[in-house]
Amino acid sequence: AGLSVASIYSAGGVGKSALVMRYGQNKFLDRYDPTIEEEYEVTVEYEGRRSVVSRGRSQTRAAHRDATRRIAKLNIIDTAGVEQFTGINENYIQRGVGFVLVFSLTQEASLRELDHIRQHIYRIKGGEQDIPIIVVGTKMDLTAEREVSSQTMQELAVKWGLPFYETSAKKGWHVSEVFNDLLLRMRKR
Ligand code: GTP
Ligand code: MG
Repeated sequence: AGLSVASIYSAGGVGKSALVMRYGQNKFLDRYDPTIEEEYEVTVEYEGRRSVVSRGRSQTRAAHRDATRRIAKLNIIDTAGVEQFTGINENYIQRGVGFVLVFSLTQEASLRELDHIRQHIYRIKGGEQDIPIIVVGTKMDLTAEREVSSQTMQELAVKWGLPFYETSAKKGWHVSEVFNDLLLRMRKR
């Protein structure tokens, strides 16, 4: 079971921490508390199913249930979206194996910002080939506030050559699919 790193980038307040919390602990982070920098360890089964929790706990229930199942530890770096904290990102991009780029479906500007982050990753990693990157739109449940259409996402998915997902950390919609897909792509490399 190898150690992999997935980093998460986006503008502030779009829902990165809520996404990680839903995936790692199956809880919704209701309150907004801007992240400075957090690193989580999530134990995952090879098939891609989340087994348990984060932060320092090493045993998982799934591992007890079926000792032959291979598991991996996924380190997730939850970065700061707000500008005053973003200076240190370069280091994390270098360490990162897979990346989740996050924007809010309710905030078009947050999607536009991802183009810079995307290009920054390619610059630092050198070349466009085979870097596992997934693009995630959050807050899918806030339908009345939606600013980014599915069609816009499909067009960008083709243009960027990257998979896009629509998610809701609040409702738990499509969150595990994101990380399953990322793990699959990280393991193929
Ligand atoms: P920074 O750490 O500052 O970069 O922000 P962040 O991207 O980590 O955002 P965070 O996860 O802290 O979420 C910001 C706010 O949006 C919080 O109040 C969350 O409860 C809310 N939020 C996150 N995801 C969802 C969602 O899927 N639906 C709804 N309705 N609210 C969400
Ligand atoms: Mg955060």
